[in-house]
Amino acid sequence: MRTDDEAGPPAAVELTLAGPAAGGACVAHRDDATWFVRGGLPGERVMARQTGAKGRGRIRFADVVEVLTPSADRVVPPCPAAGRCGGCDLQHVAYGAQLRWKSQVLADQLQRIGRISTIGSVPVHEAVVVEAVPLPGRPDGLGWRTRLALSTDEAGRPCFHGRHSDELVAVPGCVVTVPELQAGFAGRWAPGRRLAWALGEQGAVVDGEPAGSAAPVAVPGWTVGPTVVRQAAGCSWLGAVGGFWQAHAAAPDVLVDAVRRALAPASGDSVIDLYCGVGLFAGALGAEVGEGGSALAVEGDRRAARLARRNLADLPQARVVQADVQRWVAKGGSRALATADVVVLDPPRAGAGAAVVSAVAAAGRARAVAYVACDGGSLARDAAMLGQHGWELSGLRAFDLFGMSHHVEAVATFRRS
Ligand SMILES: C[S@@+](CC[C@H](N)C(=O)[O-])C[C@H]1O[C@@H](n2cnc3c(N)ncnc32)[C@H](O)[C@@H]1O
Repeated sequence: MRTDDEAGPPAAVELTLAGPAAGGACVAHRDDATWFVRGGLPGERVMARQTGAKGRGRIRFADVVEVLTPSADRVVPPCPAAGRCGGCDLQHVAYGAQLRWKSQVLADQLQRIGRISTIGSVPVHEAVVVEAVPLPGRPDGLGWRTRLALSTDEAGRPCFHGRHSDELVAVPGCVVTVPELQAGFAGRWAPGRRLAWALGEQGAVVDGEPAGSAAPVAVPGWTVGPTVVRQAAGCSWLGAVGGFWQAHAAAPDVLVDAVRRALAPASGDSVIDLYCGVGLFAGALGAEVGEGGSALAVEGDRRAARLARRNLADLPQARVVQADVQRWVAKGGSRALATADVVVLDPPRAGAGAAVVSAVAAAGRARAVAYVACDGGSLARDAAMLGQHGWELSGLRAFDLFGMSHHVEAVATFRRS
């Protein structure tokens, strides 16, 4: 009798792939099950091996192991570690097709989860267009990442984590990382460490985990330290090397510009920036409202809030509160929201959630809300709740700030309907 160990991996099955789904997979149907298949393209016929299941087998997950009928949009991945490294899941997709893929998934999410059929008066599938954010001298979708988290293996080689496991995948370079950080991949590092790399105005900076612990470095020109200084929106920003900052080299400027256009802050306005990180939007909008206005920024992470205070120190109209946004709302934040003219929220991947959305929706004086989203499903859920409270999605810009992966960043504008 065969044991499970002897049974080996499940046999590959033939599937015809339909459209893209959230999370970088394509959908297929077979054996009364819906399959989410990674490594394929819409329209392809593939052999795929099941990697998991849920819902008593009615939902199955699989990876492509052979392409029988390739799509015209299939390309050779630019990175030799594609498929093993967990970082990029759309390297096999031509860049233009990546943008169409992400536009379709985001529009589907807004329609299916958010019950949104139009943005302004434009049908949602026409309105959602993910825009490329090209960087001078760099191929489409490559060379954009300015911030990385890595681990070193027993030989001290820089590694990313594998696709379905904690396996460390040593990489000789990373095609989505900015040229200025590539030398780090050839560096000799201490084994068994977690490292954060970031590009700042002082060049490449590395920090060990936990933050502030010295990381041995053998890369000429790199510095070791817990903080990094970046330029964005015409200002300098101090950040933690391992802390949050928009990773794409152009992202801070692109997003500040989109938020400014969405909210059109005027002199004397009161601005609230929820989930402010080191103060990017509060700083940019706070400068526009002037000393007659106010900018209140709320951030949960103690270190980020401290850095935000330093970054906003030259704006007397700005104030930073270190708090969990949900608790802040419950403990009097709603009163501050009641006098806001415009609100920005840029929550983590899970979204803002019902309590925060209700409080923002109740902001009685607010003209507009700009919701910066890194997850389409969470944006759609929160948009549905804002809709129930009488706020309409009136505009949306979406940006490809994560070339070669399924992720997308959006700035959604809500106004009272
Ligand atoms: C997507 S980042 C945005 C940061 C900032 N807006 C920027 O663009 O640089 C989300 C931020 O929310 C913070 N955060 C996550 N959960 C939070 C919570 N429940 N309350 C307050 N802040 C939170 C994180 O520490 C992070 O700085």
